[in-house]
Amino acid sequence: EGSAGNAAEHAKDDAEWKVGAYFSLSGEETAFGVDSKEAIDLAIDEINKAGGVKGKPIHVLYEDNKSKPEEATNKVLQLIDRDHVLALLGEVASSRSRAGGIVANKKKVPMITPSSTNPDVTKVGPFVFRACFTDDVQGQMGAQFIVNTLGKKKVGLFFASDDLYSSGLAKEFRDEVKRLGGEIVMEKSFLKKETNFTTYINELKSANPEMIYAPIYYTSMAPVARQAKAAGVPGSMFVGSDGWDANELLRDAAEELDGAYFTNHYAPDVPWPNSQAFVKKYKDRYNRTPSSIAAQAYDAARLLADAMGRAKAMTPDDIRAAIQDTKGFQGATGVISIDAERNANKPVVIVRIKDKQFTYYATVNEKAAK
Ligand code: PHE
Repeated sequence: EGSAGNAAEHAKDDAEWKVGAYFSLSGEETAFGVDSKEAIDLAIDEINKAGGVKGKPIHVLYEDNKSKPEEATNKVLQLIDRDHVLALLGEVASSRSRAGGIVANKKKVPMITPSSTNPDVTKVGPFVFRACFTDDVQGQMGAQFIVNTLGKKKVGLFFASDDLYSSGLAKEFRDEVKRLGGEIVMEKSFLKKETNFTTYINELKSANPEMIYAPIYYTSMAPVARQAKAAGVPGSMFVGSDGWDANELLRDAAEELDGAYFTNHYAPDVPWPNSQAFVKKYKDRYNRTPSSIAAQAYDAARLLADAMGRAKAMTPDDIRAAIQDTKGFQGATGVISIDAERNANKPVVIVRIKDKQFTYYATVNEKAAK
């Protein structure tokens, strides 16, 4: 909530470095926002305990965009114009990062999205970065996994046509399946606010796909999995994308989705030392297993602090330049180097849902994993 803008907040200007964070702390995708905030708090507390950056602590001002792109626009504007933040962290959903990024770029304040994967997000301009891989890679890896690894050539596709992330992934996937010699036997789309998917599921089923790719958020995937099961389509026929990653999906549809795979940035049992160190710290503090969203937010906050430490002066411009120079940053979600397009080249992990847990299955695109 916006407690800033008052005298007390301005008095802190000289004592702390102000960073703005905008996330879905309420509304449809609350899990994305809450997980991000918890992990950023963990990262920043660690950094501040170790002396902060250039002798001062970082203070994160959080704003809730209520899971709405228009509110992301408003909140980023507030954080910049009213609170004078030096840099921004946010968002998870690509639609909101794009909205917020347009403002950040226009106002020349650097922004790092921890987990927005749609290619358009960073195309907004030189001030917008991401600490994750992009959906051209993720969509290709999903297609390669289905067609090459699982050996299934007849594929169904189910996505949200009015969501930037979902429709973008559908396109990348469609192109790659064709390139690999597979066939999309049926494609159905829904609107994000729909909750009854039975008609679509029956239509998909009638085309006899061997697998169905569903690059959608957990909020839709949980009812899709339950309604699919009722319609005789097992959850293990679905392959998903990182949008599935929320503990809420396990709570609501773990049984239905037993055996299903999805592409992701991380898994709680991924065998990487940095990831396991993070998992332990997060569990110690919050008593639950961190989601991928949490791991990514932790990395983005630490990456930003690292860049602030290297910035020539503590100005948005110099922090921007230091983020751009990031190479070989050791993250909980892999090694992060920022490329000329302000994206990160990173490994894609295949996660499998087994016994009500997200379990590590494989790492693909090993090239980026190095
Ligand atoms: N990549 C998703 C997007 O761009 C957000 C997301 C990341 C969701 C990781 C879950 C896990 O919208």
